[in-house]
Amino acid sequence: MEEFETVTAEFDAETHVGHLTLNRPDALNALSDQLRRDVVSGLQWLESQGEDDEGIALRAVIVEGADGNFCAGADITEFSDAAPGETSERQHYDFIRQFPVPVIAKIRGYCLGGGLETAMSCDFRFAHEDARLGLPEVNLGIIPGAGGVQFISRLANPSAAMEVAMTGDHISAERAHELRIVNRVHSDDLDDATQAFAEKIAAKPPLAIQAIKDAARISTETGLDEGRKYDRRRFEPLLDTEDHEEGARAFAEDDYTPEFEGR
Ligand code: COA
Repeated sequence: MEEFETVTAEFDAETHVGHLTLNRPDALNALSDQLRRDVVSGLQWLESQGEDDEGIALRAVIVEGADGNFCAGADITEFSDAAPGETSERQHYDFIRQFPVPVIAKIRGYCLGGGLETAMSCDFRFAHEDARLGLPEVNLGIIPGAGGVQFISRLANPSAAMEVAMTGDHISAERAHELRIVNRVHSDDLDDATQAFAEKIAAKPPLAIQAIKDAARISTETGLDEGRKYDRRRFEPLLDTEDHEEGARAFAEDDYTPEFEGR
């Protein structure tokens, strides 16, 4: 376990799954500048756990908040002090989106504003049925500054994004699921379900998983023809990997469980 000022990170070499916990429970894990920096440092630390000759070690990350809340958004006390332009420098959202390993947001309690934008920067969102999600910025006379409206417009549609961002209402996990903002809703089994999903992805060939993550991101930024060309460029080098050989062997032989290394 590695402790940063406002984040803790843990890596399990057995499952290849990393855990990152936002740890400012007294402020409902609100995004201070320190916390944003610590998210990046925590992910970098997790990734560095895999730097050895044994292939790619870190293969999935679960992000959650300490003490029953994911994150209540930008730290309002710092936010009101920020000079114009300062906020655009806060890049943990992009770091998560471009992180080479799939990131799953496990959401309990409040997940608001920049907290929801952080969750939507992740690749998957697993929510507890009691979670409350929303973009309340409109009530402060501003809008989500890190892409919240764009993210919901793509996950659901622009009208749903306006519904959430214009009302500023807290919506239930079930409603967020209906709007396709969250992938899965769970009750007491949230921890187990999220862990099982992370381990499932972590057992797959890591280079193929990374290519899928990149291709899915590219699909939101480009047209179909360009996107398909991108997929093809990522597909071809994978044919030469040891993991492709391993997967093909497992397909051909009964009772053989493949082990992928990321090579
Ligand atoms: N930034 C800084 N501190 C925050 C915060 C935020 N976004 N959200 C909550 N906190 C702090 C509160 O100030 C309070 O601190 P205190 O105990 O020192 O007074 C503590 O976290 C607990 O919050 P509190 O408001 O007392 O809890 P609650 O259960 O009554 O309400 C919320 C929870 C989430 C509904 C409420 O805190 C809230 O609306 N927060 C702001 C959400 C928001 O607008 N986010 C977008 C910002 S752009």
